[in-house]
Amino acid sequence: MDCNFWCCSGRCYLGKMLVFYILFLLFHLHSGFAAICPRKCNCDLSRRVQCYRVGQMPKEIASTTKRLYISHSKIKQLQISDVSRLPALEEFVLTCSGTESVERNTFKALDDLRILELWKNKLRHVPVLLPATLEVLKLGDNLISVLNESDFEGLKKLRVLDIQNNLILALSSSTLSSLCSLQRLTLAGNNMESVSGGPLTLLNLKYLSMENNKLQSFPESFFTVLHMLLFLNLNGNLLTKTPPGLPKSLLSLTLERNQLKILRSEDMKQLTNLSELCMSENQLSSIDGAQFLSSLTRLELAGNKLRTIPVNLPATLQKIDCSNNLIEKIETQDFHDLQDLKHLFLDNNVVNTFEDGALQRCTVLSNLALEQNLLRSIPLSLPHTLARLDLKGNSIQKIQEQELKNLRQLQVLNLRNNKITALDHGLLKHLPRLRYLYLEGNPWNCTCDLFRTRRALAAQGTEVQGGQCSAPAESKGETWMSSKRILRLCIRDSLYSSEEGKAIQRKTNANHPSSLRVDMDDYYDYETD
Ligand SMILES: *[C@@H]1O[C@H](CO)[C@@H](O)[C@H](O)[C@H]1NC(C)=O
Ligand SMILES: *[C@@H]1O[C@H](CO)[C@@H](O)[C@H](O)[C@H]1NC(C)=O
Ligand SMILES: *[C@@H]1O[C@H](CO)[C@@H](O)[C@H](O)[C@H]1NC(C)=O
Repeated sequence: MDCNFWCCSGRCYLGKMLVFYILFLLFHLHSGFAAICPRKCNCDLSRRVQCYRVGQMPKEIASTTKRLYISHSKIKQLQISDVSRLPALEEFVLTCSGTESVERNTFKALDDLRILELWKNKLRHVPVLLPATLEVLKLGDNLISVLNESDFEGLKKLRVLDIQNNLILALSSSTLSSLCSLQRLTLAGNNMESVSGGPLTLLNLKYLSMENNKLQSFPESFFTVLHMLLFLNLNGNLLTKTPPGLPKSLLSLTLERNQLKILRSEDMKQLTNLSELCMSENQLSSIDGAQFLSSLTRLELAGNKLRTIPVNLPATLQKIDCSNNLIEKIETQDFHDLQDLKHLFLDNNVVNTFEDGALQRCTVLSNLALEQNLLRSIPLSLPHTLARLDLKGNSIQKIQEQELKNLRQLQVLNLRNNKITALDHGLLKHLPRLRYLYLEGNPWNCTCDLFRTRRALAAQGTEVQGGQCSAPAESKGETWMSSKRILRLCIRDSLYSSEEGKAIQRKTNANHPSSLRVDMDDYYDYETD
């Protein structure tokens, strides 16, 4: 047979046809694909289309598209005809596109639409007549000022509603009453001065934020039936009282940056599951009923007007922040039962008295902030678990052995801006794990005792900052941790005074004078600068 590689009489024809057919198919697939992906868009096999910087709604989007994302575009008006050709749409995201209005009923016919996001546009209203299939609706960063009674009607599957950073002035609970599946609602960053109506009947709501509005109060029963609510964020409002009737289910309540003056037992009583209570930056002068918060792990009270530590703090607490208050005295009973406490912030108060052993029973405390107070010495009997102790900006003059002798875990010690002149090298054996020591802003008297401390610090690998000498006059401005002058002065001193020095001296005398140099080089090994 005269067959070449490809062609063999009749079969040759078939082979040619096959090649042609495959080419035809490939070409068609390719051109067909190109036709359904519009310019400036990306289309992928999961029927997702992403468009960027388009001047209008692209016309050629495949009707089978399930997810459509458009951003940084110019689409002033969204019309029914823009999406009516896309009946399979499940997710529609149009953001940062200057959209001002949405034609009535635009989304109504999209029977599979689950996610609708229109954030960062210029909408003045919630789009009218949304499909009942919606599960997620995000309208943040628009210009919506009024929520209409009917806006969310029929959205029984909606789980997430985000209308943050709009211009909403008021909210009536009935506006949201259809949203029986809603789990997450954020109305943060609006201009709401009031909310009205009966209880919010969002029986599945877990997370609610009305942060950064102008709310002054809530109706008596507003929160009472939110039986699933876990997180409530009311930071940055004008509340003078804790909202009444908070649900028992709450895990986290944050009311920072309001105008609360007192916290009463009746506000707290039912919150037995609360783990986190954040009330920083209010005007709180007293807190009652903390003992009811039997699950509390974190208590934030910074920036208030407390003169004493709140009484009866629950034993479950792990972190307490009472910084920036007016506390003068820390007493033995203040932290008596807090055996889980790890972080305690008492900085920026006016503490001048810290009773001995006031933290003794906090047997896992690792972080204690006492900077910017009026302490004249380091508190006694601090827990041996401390890893970090900040005493910056107090009036400490002297550091005594009994204050440090327990702190074998201490890694960071901040003594900046006190009145310390000396630090005995013998103290350092009590701080074997010290890694950072801050010494700036103290009037160090740079005697050769400090030089011994320098050697001990270098030997245990502590990183030291600061240590400028105020005295004696000839060392003024030098830093005792690094000064070569002090090194020279004190080596001579130690050679002629310490046991070690005497040994070197004997050796030197016995042998050759130049052996002194060798020993000086050893000292240089401890240099840290
Ligand atoms: C809601 O606002 C519209 C304007 O968008 C207004 O005409 C109407 O009376 C209000 N109520 C309903 C149900 O739309
Ligand atoms: C409190 O927490 C417990 C344990 O997580 C939970 O079983 C209980 O339902 C919660 N109580 C309320 C009122 O949500
Ligand atoms: C510094 O210490 C030396 C030696 O202990 C002492 O004689 C001197 O008075 C101290 N100077 C100051 C300013 O405290």
